[in-house]
Amino acid sequence: ETTLGAAAAQSGRYFGAAVAAGRLGDSQYTTILNREFNSITAENEMKWDATEPSRGTFTFGGADRIANHARANGKRLRGHTLVWHSQLPTWVRDIRDAATLRSVMNNHITTVATRYRGQIDSWDVVNEAFADGTTQLRPSVFRDVLGSGFIEEAFRTARAADPAAKLCYNDYSVEDWNAAKTQGMYALVRDFKARGVPIDCVGFQAHFGSGGPPATFQTTLTNFAALGVDVQITELDIAGAPTTGYANTVRACLNVPRCTGITVWGIRDSDSWRSGENPLLFDRSGNKKPAYDAVLSVL
Ligand code: XIL
Repeated sequence: ETTLGAAAAQSGRYFGAAVAAGRLGDSQYTTILNREFNSITAENEMKWDATEPSRGTFTFGGADRIANHARANGKRLRGHTLVWHSQLPTWVRDIRDAATLRSVMNNHITTVATRYRGQIDSWDVVNEAFADGTTQLRPSVFRDVLGSGFIEEAFRTARAADPAAKLCYNDYSVEDWNAAKTQGMYALVRDFKARGVPIDCVGFQAHFGSGGPPATFQTTLTNFAALGVDVQITELDIAGAPTTGYANTVRACLNVPRCTGITVWGIRDSDSWRSGENPLLFDRSGNKKPAYDAVLSVL
């Protein structure tokens, strides 16, 4: 195959990119996007600060532009993200009353998920809830005011709002099976599956350093899949874009039947949130880098 999306589709997977609405007018950017990728994630436009900047006032301008681009060009759409401690407006962060916060969280989930109902393959319902280096949840207004049950509540609310979307828990530094954070996330997913809490997938962000994925990454994907969820690589980028790191990451996914797709977190190095590290598959001029060829040859 000659494109990432078509190559991934040969094994029933998608190959996506995070997209910024503000770049859709850049013809070099949209040419690469439309040619290479068959899935889109909004890099920022579906986050809480973008979609509900003040209580009850919903703004979908950027998110709609991305959803429209996906629909018009036949791309799948991932939803990112409904409940996250970051890019969260201060008006939410300042809520101290549990009944109020529960109502605000559920209204946010319901309103955003309902707007894109039927268009989203997978929603990152809760993002980055675990603390680095531990098995525990990180402090956040959600954990601190609602308790650890906020995650279950968010998933139940999302299921009611968009029953056809797969519902994912998404996090970073959970790729190494031996990491405490990975074990915390595993316990959460196992518990949800055991109790019938609606969860369908786990997203591994895969923001890697120059060494690429940990040696246990495929084991981690296999062990989560064995719980009865799909796994996805949701935000891949690797410092310096080493060919071996990219090839190993893609191979880990392809070796796991329930690894359903891979998303890179941007298109050209100049589009990256880690732009100084040149972590992506296309250079600043839109040319394919060696890592691109490495990925394509593994797909
Ligand atoms: C990043 C975006 O790429 C940046 O543009 C923004 O300034 C900050 O957020 N984990 C996530 C993503 O789940 O939403 C983050 O995206 C990167 C880390």
